[in-house]
Amino acid sequence: MALSLLLSGLALAPYVSAQAYDAPAREEGAFSYVQPLDTTILTQYGSSPAIVPSPNATGYGGWEDALTKAQKFVSQLTLEEKADMVTGQPGPCVGNIVAIPRLGFKGLCLQDGPLAIRIADYASVFSAGVSAAATWDKAIMYERGNAMAKEFRAKGAHIALMPVCGPLGRSAYSGRNWEGFSPDPYLTGIAMEETILGVQDAGVQATAKHYIGNEQEIQRNPTFDPNGTLTDVLQESISSNIDDRTIHELYLWPFANAVHAKVASVMCSYQRLNGSYACQNSKAQNGLLKQELGFQGYVMSDWGGTHSGVASIEGGLDMNMPGGLGNYGLYAEAGSFFGGNVTLAVNNGTVPISRIDDMITRIMTPYYALGQDQDFPTVDPSSADLNTFTPRSTWTREWNLTGPASRDVRDNHGELIRKHGSAGTVLLKNTNGALPLKAPKSIAVFGNDAGDDTEGFYNQADFEFGTLTAGGGSGTGRLTYLSTPLNAIKERAAKDNALVQQWLNNTLIINSNITDLWIPALPDVCIVFLKTWAEEASDRQHLSVDWNGNEVVESVAKYCSNTVVVTHSSGINTLPFADHPNVTAILAAHYPGQESGNSIVDLLYGDVNPSGKLPYTIALNGTDYNAPPTTAVNTTGKDDWQSWYDEKLEVDYRYFDAKNITVRYEFGFGLSYTTFEVADLKATAVDDAITTAAAEQPIAPGGNPDLWATVYNVTVSVTNSGDVDGAAVPQLYVSFPDSTPAGTPPKQLRGFEKVPLTVGETQTVVFELMRRDLSYWDIVSQQWLIPSGEFTLSVGFSSRDLHAFTTITPLSSY
Ligand SMILES: *[C@@H]1O[C@H](CO)[C@@H](O)[C@H](O)[C@H]1NC(C)=O
Ligand SMILES: *[C@@H]1O[C@H](CO)[C@@H](O)[C@H](O)[C@H]1NC(C)=O
Ligand SMILES: *[C@@H]1O[C@H](CO)[C@@H](O)[C@H](O)[C@H]1NC(C)=O
Ligand SMILES: *[C@@H]1O[C@H](CO)[C@@H](O)[C@H](O)[C@H]1NC(C)=O
Ligand SMILES: *[C@@H]1O[C@H](CO)[C@@H](O)[C@H](O)[C@H]1NC(C)=O
Ligand SMILES: *[C@@H]1O[C@H](CO)[C@@H](O)[C@H](O)[C@H]1NC(C)=O
Ligand SMILES: *[C@@H]1O[C@H](CO)[C@@H](O)[C@H](O)[C@H]1NC(C)=O
Ligand SMILES: *[C@@H]1O[C@H](CO)[C@@H](O)[C@H](O)[C@H]1NC(C)=O
Ligand SMILES: *[C@@H]1O[C@H](CO)[C@@H](O)[C@H](O)[C@H]1NC(C)=O
Ligand SMILES: *[C@@H]1O[C@H](CO)[C@@H](O)[C@H](O)[C@H]1NC(C)=O
Ligand SMILES: *[C@@H]1O[C@H](CO)[C@@H](O)[C@H](O)[C@H]1NC(C)=O
Ligand SMILES: *[C@@H]1O[C@H](CO)[C@@H](O)[C@H](O)[C@H]1NC(C)=O
Repeated sequence: MALSLLLSGLALAPYVSAQAYDAPAREEGAFSYVQPLDTTILTQYGSSPAIVPSPNATGYGGWEDALTKAQKFVSQLTLEEKADMVTGQPGPCVGNIVAIPRLGFKGLCLQDGPLAIRIADYASVFSAGVSAAATWDKAIMYERGNAMAKEFRAKGAHIALMPVCGPLGRSAYSGRNWEGFSPDPYLTGIAMEETILGVQDAGVQATAKHYIGNEQEIQRNPTFDPNGTLTDVLQESISSNIDDRTIHELYLWPFANAVHAKVASVMCSYQRLNGSYACQNSKAQNGLLKQELGFQGYVMSDWGGTHSGVASIEGGLDMNMPGGLGNYGLYAEAGSFFGGNVTLAVNNGTVPISRIDDMITRIMTPYYALGQDQDFPTVDPSSADLNTFTPRSTWTREWNLTGPASRDVRDNHGELIRKHGSAGTVLLKNTNGALPLKAPKSIAVFGNDAGDDTEGFYNQADFEFGTLTAGGGSGTGRLTYLSTPLNAIKERAAKDNALVQQWLNNTLIINSNITDLWIPALPDVCIVFLKTWAEEASDRQHLSVDWNGNEVVESVAKYCSNTVVVTHSSGINTLPFADHPNVTAILAAHYPGQESGNSIVDLLYGDVNPSGKLPYTIALNGTDYNAPPTTAVNTTGKDDWQSWYDEKLEVDYRYFDAKNITVRYEFGFGLSYTTFEVADLKATAVDDAITTAAAEQPIAPGGNPDLWATVYNVTVSVTNSGDVDGAAVPQLYVSFPDSTPAGTPPKQLRGFEKVPLTVGETQTVVFELMRRDLSYWDIVSQQWLIPSGEFTLSVGFSSRDLHAFTTITPLSSY
């Protein structure tokens, strides 16, 4: 393939293969060319310009001393050791970098995942990302990340493969949305930042993943030729074709927060982005991440997401995980795109050693910055026993597993998880004073989600019986105990000497006349537990609850006039029974973690007042959602899996609002046992000469620091106007002026706070609007700009329940 195409070119094809732009044939001395950026390409999408060389880390923004230590470390390495430092090996953890004993370096242990240290015993299962998002509580986001990371550290894991902001949630059907937070980039950005601060304050490296455009599971990886070698591809993975403005305003936005929080690592994703594999996409890795956002850590590949050696290294990938060739990169014995090929590429002059040095400097800088060179716990040997990815039989290197085995790292985290589970539950409906329960004497519990798991505590399948605490795949956890809804209700009801009866077989419930089941008469309340499974590597087929849950509700509500429905779910469920008059209450309890039962009972009985809000929109019908996953292509061409993000910024409420579509429960919605009011919305400019563009400043982690500077303070008073204590979540939405380029959503979340208020209490809440919050990404000048004209600020308790309004004109003085 011709270098000339690269230099002149960026010729627009509808899409191009990875090879065309990101695997340039190297010529002598070619490494130092700098590609002039042709901005015309940015108004279109489906192809990806080359941005090389990969920028060197400088440590700027607080890691300068750590960088010096990392450089000193690198200077002592042989070339073979350098190859080892950037290439995973089979070992005790899900990802492993070997030790270099002569330098006192004990290696690196990388472990899944976003809600627990997955490959571990005696560890906690926390609430899922979607639950954390539903809390709208920054303190909980931090606390959850911090407590989880303490468990990673105590098990000897240097690097936690979390948190997730890709998928963001472009499609309601995507199988991994629950691992991340919300389709709103602002809410997800805050959740990323708080989680990362929590994780890294515990001395563990966080990994922002999956970078970028990983919005569906189907064809996320290429189809390999079963008759070929490990690298022979029949069809490449899907290409997420995303335009420049949409990348910046939606999908890159929360990664910017992650870099701003000084995340140690970013994991590049499986699929292609604009025609080029994410892990060798130089525009994404060198251009956006390392240049524009000033990222000082390292990019690691998703497991098997590396599809080249030289091209990936030039394109900005710093660490190949888990290191070997083949599907999921598990076949270390078959060689590696890195490893020995790094040595070869340096020796034959293709890759400059300075690039390899920068890769390792980037890997070791956060290690030193977080003090991982001092007193870091050894890897728990039980990790090795539980590791089914790389069992001992696959190991080719020596691993010292000398520390104590099966360490109990759970501490008091069960108490936190109980609180987090309640806080991440959203009360969607509450009529006839159904909730909180008032010491009911007779309770009937229905549904296969109410009781104990019957097929073990490691949820990797959609078992029929047992409550769901998490979804499946690398984002799951291994329970050590489980508080089930049924047990927790029984325990709590015993205080009232109540009768609790249960029917857990959904088929039986649907086929029965419920009145024949219960004794002695109509229960005071019927509580139906429903579940929805989602997992890595497949997308959801429908948005309904599973196991005929809708029919279960119909069957119960036909005779029970006080039917309370609880869902344990990956997120979005259409709730066709929501208008049923006998369905008096609905709670979306998401994936709450190991304290599931206690968390829901605390809400049902009013010991905790619900304060969760939907981090997504519940439409009236699954067909109302736009941007479904691409599930098939009719042709067999190598590059034929293409997904065009033509909806651009119109994702979730941005779409429903733009198209004025009526929904069942809107983004940000959630009830409380009390009521709140907002008033006195005021906006004060912090800077009296606001310019359209940010001041030129040296790029720091997160990008131009001026983008993060407060330009307006917005205050509003919030009052608890009901008769019980509770927490409000005032939400600030910004509507941009008409001068903003077409396609700008009608309103966008730009502030929220969780505010605990006693009865009658009023508090003033401050939202600090930063420059980025009032800017759009200008594709022509390649920067964030504040548009001229009048913005409308709205505050209320959901995206469609807005009560206080004001306007601002930031550029008025210009
Ligand atoms: C990185 O630094 C080395 C010197 O340490 C230098 O040779 C190389 O050109 C730098 N690379 C870039 C992309 O600036
Ligand atoms: C692999 O080889 C078998 C046996 O020759 C053949 O039947 C099959 O179609 C081949 N598969 C592909 C994808 O080429
Ligand atoms: C180098 O990469 C190729 C695939 O491009 C692979 O077949 C080979 O085994 C690798 N060599 C080493 C030493 O890992
Ligand atoms: C140098 O080695 C790398 C890695 O094995 C290989 O991809 C590349 O083709 C080689 N280049 C030359 C000129 O031999
Ligand atoms: C394992 O531990 C022994 C004893 O402390 C040490 O000599 C050896 O270098 C270690 N090996 C590795 C790979 O860490
Ligand atoms: C559930 O109920 C159906 C219908 O009565 C029955 O066929 C099935 O065997 C039951 N399942 C279990 C596990 O008891
Ligand atoms: C269900 O049972 C109740 C009470 O026995 C009875 O009134 C009702 O007709 C029955 N419904 C059906 C569909 O059999
Ligand atoms: C609601 O429940 C009552 C029994 O308590 C029943 O008579 C009524 O038909 C139910 N309503 C509906 C719509 O099913
Ligand atoms: C959802 O929409 C589809 C297609 O328009 C329609 O067939 C179906 O009946 C709708 N479902 C509900 C519950 O309204
Ligand atoms: C596949 O072909 C059918 C029939 O030509 C067409 O209706 C459908 O849209 C095609 N699907 C895709 C994904 O291209
Ligand atoms: C949005 O829909 C509502 C109700 O269907 C209608 O009253 C209103 O005029 C619509 N607004 C726009 C901008 O289309
Ligand atoms: C803006 O609000 C912050 C946080 O309350 C406060 O520290 C700062 O002084 C305020 N600035 C102005 C100009 O009001």
